Amino acid sequence: MKELFSLIADDLKLVNNQINDQLACSDKQIQSLVSYVAPESGKFIRPAVFLLSNLCFAKNDNLQIKVAAVLEMIHLATLLHDDVIDNAQQRRGKATINAIDGNERAVLLGDYVLAQAIKLSNELGRGDIQSELASMTATICLGELSQNLNRGNYQFTEEQYIDIIAKKTASFFASSCKLAAIINDDGKSVSDTLESFGMNLGIAFQIRDDIIDIIGSEAKFGKTLGTDLQKSKMTLPTIHFLQKSPSRKQELIENFNSMTAVKTLLASTQSIDYSKDGLTAYCKLALENLSDIPSCHAKETLVEITHSIANF
Ligand code: IPE
Ligand code: IPE
Ligand code: MG
Ligand code: MG
Repeated sequence: MKELFSLIADDLKLVNNQINDQLACSDKQIQSLVSYVAPESGKFIRPAVFLLSNLCFAKNDNLQIKVAAVLEMIHLATLLHDDVIDNAQQRRGKATINAIDGNERAVLLGDYVLAQAIKLSNELGRGDIQSELASMTATICLGELSQNLNRGNYQFTEEQYIDIIAKKTASFFASSCKLAAIINDDGKSVSDTLESFGMNLGIAFQIRDDIIDIIGSEAKFGKTLGTDLQKSKMTLPTIHFLQKSPSRKQELIENFNSMTAVKTLLASTQSIDYSKDGLTAYCKLALENLSDIPSCHAKETLVEITHSIANF
């Protein structure tokens, strides 16, 4: 994905430096933890969609690096906590902190990263931006809590699933895009367009991730997969399977630890194809949202990002 970001490559370097500065700590042991999770290996998709949305309109040069850095730091904090929740051993091609040092250290490090993100956001001196970031973070937590409350709920519907991924993942993309309108005071119509684009893109992004969790290769994606089923989290492919083949629920549950068996079960109901169609539909909606934005290079890149999520 990074090859799509040439238009904002310089800005993304500045964002990376800003994050490293913000997390820097004089305590050597803590600094070594910070350096270990330093963000270079992430895709930077949230700061990228923010910076590109900003470029589509007035382009605020004063605040954009800090806002982008806050976004990526909030994301990093959620990943540190998510890997504890999912008991994941690998992230971004390396062992997770929880795998190396245990859950306690990973949770505390996540708290530190989030606290530093809040501190940087305070430096912006813009209540409207801070308020959007705070609401977004609360929405992500609510999505994560709902997901947790629905573990092992085999009556879980597609509607409930979309509602949860809209909160835990797509709200992040929606706010990242909307923040470009907020920092430029662009008004409601631009803000709504960008927010809708981010929401549809983010839903597609999580459906894709949930498909990858079942059919992807850990070597390619650099993170532990299969955790959704191991934690009894129903996602679009398994929700569809249970709708089509409710009598095989027990068989599915008994095979949660065998991806080969799960893939065979899902193939019998074309549930992966169905899920890919779902993600394509959300990408199509995202592209429709972009048609309201005037033509420019940044918009072309947003179109390419959307295509790259649809095609994998
Ligand atoms: C992972 O996000 C968490 C999800 C919402 C699926 P990314 O896929 O953006 O992770 P990094 O930042 O590139 O590692
Ligand atoms: C993570 O979802 C979403 C967050 C809001 C952190 P996942 O648990 O599917 O993300 P990965 O697959 O571990 O990256
Ligand atoms: Mg996870
Ligand atoms: Mg996942």
